[in-house]
Amino acid sequence: MYVSMREMLRKANAEGYAVMAINAFNLESASGVIHAASKMHSPIIIDLLQEHVKKYFDCDVIVKPIIKMAQQVSVPVAINLDHGSDVAHLKRCLHEGFSSVMIDASSYRFEENVAITKSIVEFAQEFNASVEAEVGNMGLVGAGAGFTETKMYTDPDVAIKFIQKTGIDALAVSYGSTHGDYPEGYTPTFHFEIVDKIKKETGIPLVLHGGSGSGADNIRKSVKYGINKINVGTDYMIAQRNFLIKALRDNPNYDYPELLHQSYLEASKVIENYINLAGSKNKAL
Ligand code: 13P
Repeated sequence: MYVSMREMLRKANAEGYAVMAINAFNLESASGVIHAASKMHSPIIIDLLQEHVKKYFDCDVIVKPIIKMAQQVSVPVAINLDHGSDVAHLKRCLHEGFSSVMIDASSYRFEENVAITKSIVEFAQEFNASVEAEVGNMGLVGAGAGFTETKMYTDPDVAIKFIQKTGIDALAVSYGSTHGDYPEGYTPTFHFEIVDKIKKETGIPLVLHGGSGSGADNIRKSVKYGINKINVGTDYMIAQRNFLIKALRDNPNYDYPELLHQSYLEASKVIENYINLAGSKNKAL
């Protein structure tokens, strides 16, 4: 079932769980995400990163077959443009059928972030699509940008004003997570009071970015404090890569289409685990 992210997050918010938003970058990885959701009877969001959409395919190529896959299963599936910063491209994605977009103007000053985000909220209405935005910032480990620093955390008072001024559906909050693959044994410290204050004041769905490697406790507590969407990319990709390394080492003549197919099926177990932690198992019913 292909649905809007708005309704999906509204239900999650009302019932106190989070929906997993998993980064996919081709049809196979998207089908692995849908497979996990179907198995767990869970709603799911396919997060297509702007950078991937521009680099590996374009929105007019990828979105129609993913919508078709979504329509063929009974669980609710939404498609969200992740970290959209190119406004013209984002609008094209809406025209092509994305049911949600994230406008990431978080690197701009407050008033500019408000103005850009507000214009996208208005534009998205025509498509009945939901809009996620970001206040504060998150780093990226393993790719030069480094860990999220304290000064990059979301200021709750600024976020509350931002939500009131823009009318967004969901807000990405920076409270300790970093995108990417943390060093072995490292667990981030989350500052739940940031999430708590924004949630208590606005009541809207809040989003955890950089969910990979957060650890079970941080995920569960995040949901308790009001996170309703959890973005995970790296852990799903690492699981695919690890499967490929092992499978090819064991059998260098592995049938190639089957190798890829199995890599997504195996990696989808990581998503099942996150669905359990987020509390969305059986919430498709
Ligand atoms: P990770 O790759 O760290 O899980 O982050 C995903 C994400 O937040 C995409 O927006």
